[in-house]
Amino acid sequence: MKKMMGFITLLSAFLIYAFIDGYKTESVEGENKLPYVGILQLVSHPALDDITRGITDALEEEGFVDGETMVLDFQNAQGDQSNLATMSSRFVNREADIMVGIATPAAQALANASQDIPVILGAITDPESSELVESNERPGGNVTGVSDLTPVREQLALIQELMPDVQTLGIMYSSSEDNSIIQGEMAEEFAADFGFETETMTISSTNDVSHAGAALANKVDAIWVPTDNTIASAFPTLVEQADAQGIPIFPAVDTMVQEGGLATIGLNQYELGRLTGEMTAAVLKGESDPAVTPIQYAEEGDLFINTKKAEELGISIPSSMLERATDTQNEQESE
Ligand code: TRP
Repeated sequence: MKKMMGFITLLSAFLIYAFIDGYKTESVEGENKLPYVGILQLVSHPALDDITRGITDALEEEGFVDGETMVLDFQNAQGDQSNLATMSSRFVNREADIMVGIATPAAQALANASQDIPVILGAITDPESSELVESNERPGGNVTGVSDLTPVREQLALIQELMPDVQTLGIMYSSSEDNSIIQGEMAEEFAADFGFETETMTISSTNDVSHAGAALANKVDAIWVPTDNTIASAFPTLVEQADAQGIPIFPAVDTMVQEGGLATIGLNQYELGRLTGEMTAAVLKGESDPAVTPIQYAEEGDLFINTKKAEELGISIPSSMLERATDTQNEQESE
């Protein structure tokens, strides 16, 4: 009997120890389990790099610091479709708490990889027509985020204001990007309202930019380009070709004006990133549910002018316009 009691005491002591130990391990793990955030960027170009910077800055301000309060897994697909798929499944396999897709093809890869893990869209032209959400107002699933649809009509009005003699407007975009097709078609449709004829050139890779750029510049009075990732990745090449024929480029974003475009009414890329970061933090904190969180839009576009390019091309900018514009060359110098 004594022996039996001794055994029971020993057994209970062991069980209690095992219980406490188990509890300890669990709670330590609980503390260590930081939210896992996967960010997938399609490719490096100045606009997408600005967006990523905005996302991580905003996350940090919301209390999410890599290695301290979250695990940040940043992946750049270098423009490669198969990388997009591999990197998306990597996040899913690691049971990411949230995934952020920067540019339409990246967001599409993430949304294909999971129907459960929240996906936040970083500067996607039109989530609804790219089939990422049921509707921009009520996404309905695990995906929501920020749209960067640019004010295409205002951009065409700007072309007319700066170059009243433009007759033929060149439009160039990549036929493999849903985001670009949407904008390209908008530009073609609106051009008639400004009395422009259009000449459209589509490309399928960065290798086409040089040749297509030269051919297009030869036929038109000015070139407009949308937020196209392929063109943005090779923008200096397009600038070189257009410059050689003295044809100005009106791009859709500030970063492309800075790289040699003439002017735009566009959205600040860094601010779009910040907005994306804030939405990511809200979902991580459980404050918002993607299914019922509408797609958000940046505030109005700002006027950006490259005065150096205007001078080179002999285009005079009215002083009233200069007063309200951001000169991207000054921005570059002061940075
Ligand atoms: N809107 C683009 C997309 O949906 C991504 C993008 C954001 C972009 N800013 C840009 C592309 C600037 C080119 C230039 O894929």
